[in-house]
Amino acid sequence: MSRKTATPTVDLDATRQRLERLGLVHAAEQLDPLISDAVKQNTAPHQVVDQLLDAELERREERRLQTSLRLSGLPNGHTLGNFDFAFQPSVERARIETLATCQWVRENRTLLIQGPPGVGKTHLAAALGVKAIEHGFGVVFYRLDELLPAMRRDAELPPAQLRRKKYINTGLLILDEVGFEPMTRQEASLFFRLVSHRYQKGAIIITTNKGVEAWPEILAGDEILATAILDRLLHHSHVLNIKGRSYRLRELESNLAATG
Ligand SMILES: Nc1ncnc2c1ncn2[C@@H]1O[C@H](COP(=O)(O)OP(=O)(O)O)[C@@H](O)[C@H]1O
Ligand SMILES: [Mg+2]
Repeated sequence: MSRKTATPTVDLDATRQRLERLGLVHAAEQLDPLISDAVKQNTAPHQVVDQLLDAELERREERRLQTSLRLSGLPNGHTLGNFDFAFQPSVERARIETLATCQWVRENRTLLIQGPPGVGKTHLAAALGVKAIEHGFGVVFYRLDELLPAMRRDAELPPAQLRRKKYINTGLLILDEVGFEPMTRQEASLFFRLVSHRYQKGAIIITTNKGVEAWPEILAGDEILATAILDRLLHHSHVLNIKGRSYRLRELESNLAATG
């Protein structure tokens, strides 16, 4: 109860109400404890104002991050912090850290992440998505097989309406698992439309288990379309080629070792 004795006698209710009317709800919440602390510690007035504004800014930024993460559809729990670089030496930490600055997102480039199953493609794509949100970019994450039905529904939309779709106008589009299933001819041309709309206007991350040479096969066997798509995707792009062991199998191996 020592806090009580330090509480100033001034009535903070009116101040709190003004903060609330200004929409500074977090500052309003923190007003009492901050003023009590300030009195106890003899804090300079300008510092108290700073602390109050910081409280508001910090909580707002937290809220923005949480909301953007929820809306992005990013899978949970994949961060650069919990990516084990030692396990996957073909992934250079310095290169990922450079990508994590998001300069390439700002420049509307493409990042192609290639590799066999389980090597951490989805993990890295999602972790870079989190970084992009932290840097203030809008991010949406889809597995290609989730996005294709939406694109089919929007097939007849005029360009002005299409441009309002999240997968077209969000700063960073992450497309996971491209190439698992070959596309139909219609899907391949919708994919082309997507890539052309975003070309130099929005960033894309694509994860795929297929090398570039297999893309015509993914794209309904259409070599010309595949060339047109790759031409746009690979122009000023970054390519991460992950070669290595599956992390999923490593977990399985260690579980087996533990039980065996
Ligand atoms: N180097 C790594 N460090 C930590 N976890 C990893 C690593 N690589 C993969 N994982 C984890 O293993 C699982 C499979 O990885 P994932 O990214 O889904 O692989 P891919 O998309 O290449 O098939 C995920 O749970 C992921 O978080
Ligand atoms: Mg994956």
